[in-house]
Amino acid sequence: VPLPDRFLHALATIAGDHHVLTEPDLRAGYETDWTRRYHGSTPAVVRPGSTAEVAAILRLCREHGVPLVPQGGNTGLVGGGVPHNGEVVLSLRRLDAVAAFDPGSGEITAGAGVTLATVQEAVRAQGWNFGVDLASRDSATIGGMVATNAGGIRVLRYGGMRQQILGIEAVLSDGAVLSRMPGLLKDNSGYDLAQLLAGSEGTLAVITAVRLKLVPQQPQRAVALLAVEDISAALRVVSAVRRTMPSLEAAEVFFPEGLELVCRHARLPYPFPATHPCYLLLECAAQGDESAPLAGTLAAIAGIRDSAIATDRPGRDRLWAYRERHTESISVEGIPHKLDVTLPLGRLPEFEHRVRAVISGAEPAARPVLFGHAGDGNLHVNILGLAPDDDRPDDAVLRLVAELGGSISAEHGIGIAKMPWLHLTRSTADREAMRAIKSALDPAGILNPGVVIPRA
Ligand code: MLT
Ligand code: ZN
Repeated sequence: VPLPDRFLHALATIAGDHHVLTEPDLRAGYETDWTRRYHGSTPAVVRPGSTAEVAAILRLCREHGVPLVPQGGNTGLVGGGVPHNGEVVLSLRRLDAVAAFDPGSGEITAGAGVTLATVQEAVRAQGWNFGVDLASRDSATIGGMVATNAGGIRVLRYGGMRQQILGIEAVLSDGAVLSRMPGLLKDNSGYDLAQLLAGSEGTLAVITAVRLKLVPQQPQRAVALLAVEDISAALRVVSAVRRTMPSLEAAEVFFPEGLELVCRHARLPYPFPATHPCYLLLECAAQGDESAPLAGTLAAIAGIRDSAIATDRPGRDRLWAYRERHTESISVEGIPHKLDVTLPLGRLPEFEHRVRAVISGAEPAARPVLFGHAGDGNLHVNILGLAPDDDRPDDAVLRLVAELGGSISAEHGIGIAKMPWLHLTRSTADREAMRAIKSALDPAGILNPGVVIPRA
């Protein structure tokens, strides 16, 4: 349904003509997600430049009953940020100011459109760092990362986005502005609305700014890439290192099929003379050099078939590339079905052992590529060779996850991609409580309809 002219005119009055995009070529980048699996179309992309403009846009949309999809850097992987039913796209990228950085307390206030890399650069020179890091750091925005409760490669040490939040500014669906950035470490005065909005995927309010806590910069880093016999061995290594080295910051796992794709598409030499059944990448970060204690700890662990350690930046980047370039290499090979699951650590080996057979049982032509965050029990099950709408392997994998007591989404969220399976790991009572919260905060259902909560 085309939008009435007076609605578009009012949008342009709020955000400015230049910031209401209606031409197809200008809209295109907002209509398809990063994976290229999810497409939609929008009559207009609006790019407000302030919280007041966001509030005015929400009041206008509510008055006209026009639904909208909030969007940050559009790096999500579950189709939660693209317009599937002709919604208006509300791009928050212009809210890109770092409003305050307090090096004394280690806190920063960033607009929703500030990229992760900008936050990292802003604080590092002052001895601080940000606890969350992920490969899409140059495009992913702080607002989108909070809205989706992004995880990444350091959850083991610092937690995900939820654990970094000290305050939030957000606009409710009626245009009211919630603003709670008290700069207080302790604040136990009622419901924690910031935590409620974290992971709500744009369905409860539009996040416009966030106050975040920082972590001390750890200038010395040691990275080890290990070849091991299987994922059980990898988990034994992670457990041993965790117990002796509080500096452990990342524990990432991948397998020969992913390594082959990375080496071919990123044109990298193989890391070891032989191939091995499983690879584990560890990073320790501290004020001093951790390479000797790390090597000492690893020397005492049985079952490590080969290893490489690097402390200098080029050497560390070279080892990290084998893990970090998985996502792009898989996407060069084809459009994957991406499943992001978490298992109780004790069930992870059984899952990894069974999942490939479950996938080929559902579709013999499917090609699984597994990698992920071993320390978090989080595997990214990517499946190549499937038609975009052939969900049989997805269904089989997610049922296995539920059977083993896991979650159908560890860190990517539900979006629209995981909607059919939410009931597998969230109870009826859970889903009813979520629906009640949604109807209280967005009674007209204009915020990211069809995501997390099924359409009415
Ligand atoms: C990662 O861990 O690299 C991200 O979650 C991206 C992905 O799953 O492809
Ligand atoms: Zn991940």
